[in-house]
Amino acid sequence: MQHHIKIEKITSVKQIKKCAKFYPAAYNTEPWNDNWTYETATALLSCYYNTPKFVGWIAAIDEMIIGCAIGNIEPYYSGNIFILKELFVAVDAQNSGAGSSLLATVKNDMDEAGVKMTILFTRRPIVDFYTKSGFIEMEGVVAMINAR
Ligand SMILES: CC(C)(COP(=O)(O)OP(=O)(O)OC[C@H]1O[C@@H](n2cnc3c(N)ncnc32)[C@H](O)[C@@H]1OP(=O)(O)O)[C@@H](O)C(=O)NCCC(=O)NCCS
Repeated sequence: MQHHIKIEKITSVKQIKKCAKFYPAAYNTEPWNDNWTYETATALLSCYYNTPKFVGWIAAIDEMIIGCAIGNIEPYYSGNIFILKELFVAVDAQNSGAGSSLLATVKNDMDEAGVKMTILFTRRPIVDFYTKSGFIEMEGVVAMINAR
């Protein structure tokens, strides 16, 4: 399956809108159980697209976009780092290697750009997906929220 997957950089808001179409189904289920619509997903992904030093990639099979990775480069005391804000694959295309292909491209392209570290937030059990690609859990880091 993996050889059918083509990865390329996101260069237009049109591609962002295509990704927003399959974003809700990817997150409105376990383990996230979110409540996204096409409109709210478009707002979120467009917001990321307009972030300074945005970098994004799409995964496509036969010209059909089925996956997306989005983030931005930020300065850190150790040099530039990549904040991976989103990585998602259309429900029907999951478990075929698109997610790991996207992650490998992120790593490769950031290496080439001299960005040595990628950081992301996720939740269990998706942690296993990232550890399979060489990520490790940061010790002592806690995500906190204040919501009513
Ligand atoms: C998580 C996600 C991006 C993985 O993409 P994918 O294309 O389905 O994953 P791959 O086919 O490349 O899988 C690679 C490995 O990770 C594992 N994996 C995939 N999804 C997983 C999950 N949800 N939980 C645990 N392990 C997972 C696979 O079993 C596979 O293992 P193997 O190499 O031993 O067979 C995709 O399932 C997705 O979009 N999920 C919903 C959105 C999401 O949670 N995104 C991550 C936000 S931080």
